[in-house]
Amino acid sequence: MTEPLLPAVQTPHDLDFISHSPAQTERIGIRLGQLLRAGDLVLLSGPLGAGKTHFIKGVARGLGYDGPVTSPTFVLINEYRADAARGRLPIYHVDLYRVNDVTELATIGLDELWLTDGICLIEWPERAAAALPSEYLQVALSYISETKRQVRLMPHGSRYRDLLATFKEATFG
Ligand SMILES: Nc1ncnc2c1ncn2[C@@H]1O[C@H](COP(=O)(O)OP(=O)(O)OP(=O)(O)O)[C@@H](O)[C@H]1O
Ligand SMILES: [Mg+2]
Repeated sequence: MTEPLLPAVQTPHDLDFISHSPAQTERIGIRLGQLLRAGDLVLLSGPLGAGKTHFIKGVARGLGYDGPVTSPTFVLINEYRADAARGRLPIYHVDLYRVNDVTELATIGLDELWLTDGICLIEWPERAAAALPSEYLQVALSYISETKRQVRLMPHGSRYRDLLATFKEATFG
């Protein structure tokens, strides 16, 4: 890890949204999900209840997965599948809230998860900062009011800067 996950410095490549509802947060996730591909890593930061799981639900929907999406609190990893149009790509939904020590990651197979050809989405990545690769998309969610959240997409590395450029083009034309 060449830079700390949080606090992150804002750059001109970042993309900011204000979400006014859980459904809106999910829709931002859907648009991101539609652009993700095998090997992508997305780290979700933000406090308890910020909306990380809602955002990931949107990402999974954007990849064509229709089943339940919940925080994998006790098992640490849930695995979903993208639809046939996306080759049934595995989607790994990880929650590290209960991880205290980076060495625990090997136990759950997380130390190599981003080397597989699935899509990897991690809640509470700070718990494993030292073990994570230096290129990823950070989704920073922050609480504004009971129903309002700031959703900031922050690319780290060229793949994710390109991804956000495509996202902007698709969203704003
Ligand atoms: N604009 C919004 N976007 C997302 N969630 C919202 C929004 N407004 C209110 N909420 C509520 O905030 C909560 C977000 O829950 P969610 O499980 O997605 O958070 P989380 O960041 O994954 O939390 P945890 O760290 O506990 O896993 C839900 O109860 C949701 O209804
Ligand atoms: Mg969650």
